[in-house]
Amino acid sequence: MMMPPLIEKNGSILMGGLSLAELSGEFGTPLFAYDLNTAGEMFHSLSRFITWKPLEIYYAMKSNWNPDLLRYFRSLGSGIDAVSPGDILMAKSAGFNPDQILYTTNNITDEEMDMAMNEGVRFNVGSISRLRKYASRYPGTSICVRFNPDVVAGEHDYLCTGGSLSKFGVLLEDAREVLAITRDAGIRITGLHEHTGSGIAAAESVYQSMKNLLSIAGQFPDLEFIDFGGGFKVPYDPDEIKIDYTEFGRNITAIFEEFCRSYGRRLTLCFEPGKYLTAACGVLIVEVNTIRDNKSRRIVGVNSGLPHLIRPSFYGAYHHIVNLTNPSATPFKYDIVGNICESGDVFARDRMLPEVREGDLLAIQNAGSYCYSMGSIYNLRPLPAEVVIQGNTAKLSTKRLSFAELVLRLSES
Ligand code: LLP
Repeated sequence: MMMPPLIEKNGSILMGGLSLAELSGEFGTPLFAYDLNTAGEMFHSLSRFITWKPLEIYYAMKSNWNPDLLRYFRSLGSGIDAVSPGDILMAKSAGFNPDQILYTTNNITDEEMDMAMNEGVRFNVGSISRLRKYASRYPGTSICVRFNPDVVAGEHDYLCTGGSLSKFGVLLEDAREVLAITRDAGIRITGLHEHTGSGIAAAESVYQSMKNLLSIAGQFPDLEFIDFGGGFKVPYDPDEIKIDYTEFGRNITAIFEEFCRSYGRRLTLCFEPGKYLTAACGVLIVEVNTIRDNKSRRIVGVNSGLPHLIRPSFYGAYHHIVNLTNPSATPFKYDIVGNICESGDVFARDRMLPEVREGDLLAIQNAGSYCYSMGSIYNLRPLPAEVVIQGNTAKLSTKRLSFAELVLRLSES
């Protein structure tokens, strides 16, 4: 079964208007390909289903900081959710203004705080400890405070961000302490923030997190915006039940509207999705080089591995896989494994795929979020190249280093 944005046409599998097999011929494999129009459609869909105005979207660039994607999101009017000084510099080099960047801090150093303040970005503090240090160094400024929504949700234990076992956000019960620290330093809290988790399947969890944060928001008189983080789930498995985002958006808007009415001011509603915007727009194309028949298992070895796409190994995540070069053949069951010296280097187990032969190209879908950006050079294999597709054109965005170039870079002092 084909999952969007891929379509099959006359035996070829296309993304945007381009054949992925031809693209691999041109740019080699392993190759990440991102379809900008798909990312753009996802971006625009948010304001269709969340009708509240003003609505601001801060793209969670940790999911994919490809420079062409960043520039594209800037052209669409997105802001940036940044989580490190590196993110800030990368976003600025893609043309974002400092006031379009919200820096959500997490166990940062004083140097990192000063650096972010010097860059002029908006600052989001998530612990009482950091708030105290901030208040003594930057009195009289404006700030956003991240609270922990006290809701545990996400598609894997590692992807649940709320709850008191989590390292993220100030506990709701500490709101008074936040107020006391900032009042003494003449700091205005102009924004509140929470993020519940990633890949949230239950819409109720999102509503509950919103309500929990809003239950304390009335205590903060200077608010201009409230940011409810990311976490919007998109399907990774064709059989997965899809979330009704129209209804979801309607409920979100109603919850926020009710709060703003009682608060007495129309605040800006913010979200910072990553996966929702970029997961589906990307594929990782790999080439099959070794097939073994191990008693009952057919094991397919490819020229990539967990350093390029770690989600199946790390979270047990499902990523749909398509045989680009033999799409109509009889299906068999396969394990798809990588080229790394790790037994956990597995993209999929027991996966039905049209007959796979050595030399075939496979496309691993939903590779637009948290794949290249979580990538590494483990086993000293370079990261794949990245291309961006827009309509019928493809452009090399990031080149693949040769082994020699990689080693040269690492040997330079
Ligand atoms: N905002 C904050 C404060 C976050 O911590 C995150 C994700 C997001 C927004 C965006 O979440 P998204 O919309 O992408 O679910 N590596 C994991 C995901 C880690 C997410 C960490 N924070 C994965 O591959 O599933």
